[in-house]
Amino acid sequence: MDNLAFAKIPYGMFIVTSSFNDKIGGQISNTVFQVTSIPATITISISKQNNTHFLLENSKKAVISCLTEDATFEFIGKFGFRSSRDFDKFSEVNVIKNVNKIPIVTTFANAYFETDIISSLDINTHTLFLCKVNNSVVLNDNQTMTYDYYHKVKKGFTPKNAPTYISK
Ligand SMILES: Cc1cc2nc3c(=O)[nH]c(=O)nc-3n(C[C@H](O)[C@H](O)[C@H](O)COP(=O)(O)O)c2cc1C
Repeated sequence: MDNLAFAKIPYGMFIVTSSFNDKIGGQISNTVFQVTSIPATITISISKQNNTHFLLENSKKAVISCLTEDATFEFIGKFGFRSSRDFDKFSEVNVIKNVNKIPIVTTFANAYFETDIISSLDINTHTLFLCKVNNSVVLNDNQTMTYDYYHKVKKGFTPKNAPTYISK
């Protein structure tokens, strides 16, 4: 098996946020895609180790923001390499609090989706959450960041617990 074949699969870059019992959190995810149009549904694959997993599983609510190419390495580092369990990721980040008290990230984002989790599939290390979209908003026309752009232009890497991690 050539592991590098997996690097040929294209993705986008997203922030997934949630809130449960007044605790807020969020993380970077590249494994977000639309599954159906009517009703509009989206899946996300999230590691069971992540604080965001705990919030999604318990609240059954997720907000997904699409990241733009101008997102800084510092910003991605905050959401992609640190845990909201012990670190406030939202200071110096623009958010809108939605009716469920979930912070919608609007910094370095061009659109967002407010969703209800209607199903989930346990895949050993990760859970695939199926989210039904209740509201979608376009913030601007800045270019969406792809996973490829993140690697090739930003020279970023992916941590071990991400679903698309490739061991060297
Ligand atoms: C480019 C990139 C893509 C990532 N994609 C995912 C993903 O799809 N699913 C996932 O569970 N973690 C993914 N991660 C890792 C999480 O963002 C990371 O573990 C984060 O620190 C979890 O934070 P939390 O504990 O506050 O939830 C990704 C990280 C990066 C940098």
